[in-house]
Amino acid sequence: SGASPMTLNINGQAKSLRLEPRTTLLDALREYMDLTGTKKGCDHGQCGACTVLVDGRRVNACLTLAVMSQGKQITTIEGLAKGDALHPMQEAFLKHDGFQCGYCTPGQIMSGVACVKEGHATTDDQAREWMSGNLCRCGAYPNILAAVREVAG
Ligand code: FES
Repeated sequence: SGASPMTLNINGQAKSLRLEPRTTLLDALREYMDLTGTKKGCDHGQCGACTVLVDGRRVNACLTLAVMSQGKQITTIEGLAKGDALHPMQEAFLKHDGFQCGYCTPGQIMSGVACVKEGHATTDDQAREWMSGNLCRCGAYPNILAAVREVAG
């Protein structure tokens, strides 16, 4: 086959695997590394369910090729907590009930982390705009916004 060896740095660990060059980062995570916290919604860049951080910036993993992610630090929802300590964004989502069915939640949280880190959460409008690429079918938007704004301080 046309699979080639590659090494991806996921949540601080180097993982070597063989993948077809066209494999998306999303499929690499879910199908080849059992990191199924990152969700596949639309698979076309429309829903944000697959949001991860690459070198600290958010990306849609469904639009990113795994091969292009080599040499970068990839963070998924599985990598946010430090041992038993949840990330402040995870705590805030719990506190504000920032989810209902939970399917969009990992992507929402990763987007929220980037939102705060990049300074886009200083007002409700700004945070809402930044988070607008992350769809929630249950309509938990007000609670998600409250969580992101709380972490922003
Ligand atoms: Fe990637 Fe929807 S699955 S944006």
